[in-house]
Amino acid sequence: KLKLAVIGAGSTYTPELVEGIIKRRNELPVTELYLMDIDPLKLEIVGGLARRMMAASGMPARTVLTAELEEAVRGADFIICQIRVGKLAARIRDEQIPLRHDLIGQETTGAGGFMKALRTIPELSRIAGVIERLAPEAWLINFTNPSGIMAEMLLDRHRVKTIGLCNVPINMERDARKRIPPERAAGAAVEYVGLNHLSWVTEIYLDGKGILADQLRGNFPTYRPANLPKIDFEPELLRELGAIPSGYLTYYYYRERSLAHLKQEPRTRGEVCREIEAELLQLYRQPDLHEKPALLERRGGHLYSEAAISLVSAIYNDKKEEHVVNVRNQGALPFMEDRDVVEIRCLIDRNGARPLPMPHFANEHIIGMMRALKAYERLTVQAGLSGDRGLALQALLNHPLVGDYGKARTVLKEMLAANRAFLPHF
Ligand code: NAD
Ligand code: G6P
Ligand code: MN
Ligand code: MN
Repeated sequence: KLKLAVIGAGSTYTPELVEGIIKRRNELPVTELYLMDIDPLKLEIVGGLARRMMAASGMPARTVLTAELEEAVRGADFIICQIRVGKLAARIRDEQIPLRHDLIGQETTGAGGFMKALRTIPELSRIAGVIERLAPEAWLINFTNPSGIMAEMLLDRHRVKTIGLCNVPINMERDARKRIPPERAAGAAVEYVGLNHLSWVTEIYLDGKGILADQLRGNFPTYRPANLPKIDFEPELLRELGAIPSGYLTYYYYRERSLAHLKQEPRTRGEVCREIEAELLQLYRQPDLHEKPALLERRGGHLYSEAAISLVSAIYNDKKEEHVVNVRNQGALPFMEDRDVVEIRCLIDRNGARPLPMPHFANEHIIGMMRALKAYERLTVQAGLSGDRGLALQALLNHPLVGDYGKARTVLKEMLAANRAFLPHF
C-alpha cells in the first residue's frame, strides 16, 4: 500500500501532478490517491479529470475525492500540499494594494507575498498538526507559497517530516545545463544557492573546472517563469554578479522598472490567472478529456510535477539523488544559521534531504541578500503565528522591496483590513 494525498487538489495544477504519478508508476506504485479540497465544485471538476486520467492509465489505484483533511492524510505515506488560502481573489488584493502605494505587488515576494504568508501560516500550521497526529510517518511535500517561509514555519514549529519545494530550481538547473555540450553533461555540476525565490546559479563545473565566467562573456538569456514581467537581465549585470539570478531577482535588480511595468499592466497576474483558471476548468469538465491540456503551460508552474514526483520517488526508493529543495541549513552554508531554511542542493534518500556543504562560498553580495531576507522570513513567521502587528511591521521594514516606514504602515493597515476574515488573531 502506498497512499499519496494532495491537499488543495482543486488546484488546476493537479492534473500535472497526476501525469507525473502515472509517468513514474513503475518506480512509485501508488495504490491510493486522496484528493482533498474545501471547494466542492473545483474538487469535483479537477478530481473528475484526475479520476479519468488514472482510469485511462490502467494503474491499479483507488482515487478518492474528499473534503475531509483527516480522511485524506490518515496513514498517508506522502502528502503534497498546494493550498491557496482565500483563493485567487485574495491573491489579486495582495497584488493590487501594494501597487496603490508604489510598492511591487507580487504574490510571493514583497508586501503581497508577506500578506499571503500571514493568511497561510495559521492554516498550514493547523494542517501540520493534523498530519502529526494522523500520519506521523508521512512526508509533507509543500508547494504552498511563499514556499520558503512555509518551510521555515513548519521546520521551526512542527515535528512533521517536511520538505519545501519550488519549480524554479529545476528549471534554472536545466537552463544552466543547456550551456554544456551534451556529451560532457554527465561530468557537469551546477552550483545553486539562495532562499526560495531569491536564488542564483553561482557556478557551472565541467570536469571540476568552473566555466560560468566564460559563458557569461556571451549573450546569456536566462529562464523566466511565465508569471514574471518580461524584463531580461543585461549581460553586463550577470558578469558583474558572476552568477545567474532567478527570475524573481528582476524585482530587486530592476525594482523601478518592475514597478513601472506592473503599474501600466491593465490587469494583475492574479487576474490573468483567474481567466486561465476559468478556461482550464471548462476544459477539465469535458468527459472525453483524459490528459493534461496544453493550456496549463500558460501558468508559472513549469515542471511542477517533475519536481514533486521525482522527489517523492527519490525518498520512496532511497535513491541518494541530488535535488534542490528547501530544508534546514544544518551547517552547509557557514554564513547562515544551522536552523535557517535555505534553498540548497541536497542528497535525497529515505531519511529525507541532507544539504551538501558549501564551506567556501564567499559571494558577499549574495550572502548579504540572503541574510536580510532571512531576517524578514523569521519575523514573518513570528508575526503570522502570534498576530503581533509590531512584528509584522518589523518584517516589512526588513524586506528590501518595502523598507519605508510610512509605506509599510499604510500598506499593512490596508492589507490587514482586507484580510480580516482570514486573520482572527490580528
Ligand atoms: P488554486 O487556488 O487554483 O488552488 C488551491 C486550492 O486550495 C483551491 O482549490 C482552494 O479551494 C484550496 N484550499 C484553500 N484552502 C484550503 C485548505 N485549508 N484545505 C484544503 N484546500 C484548500 O491555486 P494554485 O494557483 O493552483 O496554487 C496553489 C498553491 O501552490 C499556491 O499557494 C501557489 O502559490 C502555490 N504554487 C507554488 C509553486 C512553487 O513553486 N512553490 C508553483 C505553483 C503554485
Ligand atoms: C512560478 C513559481 C511559483 C509561483 C508560480 C506562479 O513557477 O515558482 O512559486 O507560484 O510560478 O504562477 P502563476 O501562473 O500562478 O502566476
Ligand atoms: Mn504504506
Ligand atoms: Mn516557486
